[in-house]
Amino acid sequence: MMAKTLIAFFSRADENYFGGAMRYVKVGNTEVVCGIIADLIPADSFKMEMVNPYSPVYMTCIEEAKQDLRSNARPELVSMPESIEAYDTIILAYPNYWGTMPMAVVTFLEQFDFAGKTILPLCTNEGSGMGSSERDIKKYAPGAVVKKGLSVTGSQAANARGSVQRWLSENGLL
Ligand SMILES: Cc1cc2nc3c(=O)[nH]c(=O)nc-3n(C[C@H](O)[C@H](O)[C@H](O)COP(=O)(O)O)c2cc1C
Repeated sequence: MMAKTLIAFFSRADENYFGGAMRYVKVGNTEVVCGIIADLIPADSFKMEMVNPYSPVYMTCIEEAKQDLRSNARPELVSMPESIEAYDTIILAYPNYWGTMPMAVVTFLEQFDFAGKTILPLCTNEGSGMGSSERDIKKYAPGAVVKKGLSVTGSQAANARGSVQRWLSENGLL
């Protein structure tokens, strides 16, 4: 059977900070990068969507996400994949929120058994890189093989094709 890959991602559209200015966007940075990946390799995609999404207003979202991190919340997701059994590789993509991944990604990770699966973390951010997200993924997905992640500057997401290609090929997916 062919090895199967799942691109599981969290991404927020609406107001965000781009090189010193606030802008409203229809598609979030992480989702843009996931689109590039889906163009390059055969994979299924799953978008993590919160039942109570963060505010479209950037400054409000910042506070809401900080609160969720501080309280170690598990924001409820609108849906979940039925199973991840068919996948041997999961590309887990998310923005850096306060130095790690959004808590909705933790909700996702805790839902499944990742033992024996390979996780490729991808984190868009504005300077903090992967933060502690790789370590945190290992904590919430025990038994998974967590590869070295790819950090992408969020505001440059549309230009990430080269580094994404390299990373996929380093990991045997391209
Ligand atoms: C709640 C929140 C917290 C953030 N915290 C950080 C941070 O700690 N470090 C960083 O470099 N960027 C931070 N950012 C910027 C985002 O990581 C960046 O804009 C990312 O590309 C957004 O991805 P998205 O458009 O897919 O949601 C933060 C953004 C938000 C909304």
